[in-house]
Amino acid sequence: MKKRSDNIPPREVTSNQSGIHPNLAATVTKHLRHHFQKPYAQHNVDAFNTACAWLAQRSKPIILDSFCGTGESSRQLARQFPNSVIIGVDKSAARLQRHQVNQEHPLDNYLLVRADVDDFWRLAAEANWQLQQHFLLYPNPWPKSAQLQYRAHGSAVFPALLRLGGDLTLRSNWKLYVEEFACALTIAGNTAETTSYVPTETITAFERKYHLAGQPLWECKCTLKPAI
Ligand SMILES: C[S@@+](CC[C@H](N)C(=O)[O-])C[C@H]1O[C@@H](n2cnc3c(N)ncnc32)[C@H](O)[C@@H]1O
Repeated sequence: MKKRSDNIPPREVTSNQSGIHPNLAATVTKHLRHHFQKPYAQHNVDAFNTACAWLAQRSKPIILDSFCGTGESSRQLARQFPNSVIIGVDKSAARLQRHQVNQEHPLDNYLLVRADVDDFWRLAAEANWQLQQHFLLYPNPWPKSAQLQYRAHGSAVFPALLRLGGDLTLRSNWKLYVEEFACALTIAGNTAETTSYVPTETITAFERKYHLAGQPLWECKCTLKPAI
């Protein structure tokens, strides 16, 4: 498929879904009741072990930057939170390879790993990771109604995300995704807030692209209740 030129403004999300998905509550409840049994891919286990070995050298609170893309946000978070360690996770080698290290001020408190969050979140939850913060910045929206299961909150891996705990921040240019995510958190017994988000400094490529195109951005924030 031909790639869109960088000069073309990004399209706003369009969907055949006009409100919270009618199956959201049933889907989230089902996932909360049933263990997600998909076997782990070895390359995700290897990536998780790499992250564990890296963390073992650093005794600091963990911030996870899931769907980190090129890792720009991970680098920015490392600068913003010098007393934490940041792990950026993305499944795309192509995106991660485009990461730009700050040569003038290299930072040693962040690591980028190539892994699918479907496995990484479960492995981290099973290893009892308790996050300080968890960022999900501009996940793929999967806007068709039939794609609920691909959204973070409609997926069978959602309970692992909850178990990881911490202060959760999700951003998207699709308001309904953010509202639905907040609704799923509420169904799971949390209190979540959705607000419009106006960046003073953009920290990801997608955030910058949408913001420069004048698209409104949305944010959900939630302090996850501790796992029982
Ligand atoms: C829309 S991009 C956003 C990237 C970055 N956060 C930004 O704002 O520029 C979504 C990213 O999620 C990654 N992704 C999608 N599904 C994933 C999964 N299951 N596990 C890990 N990464 C995933 C993609 O590779 C892509 O880099």
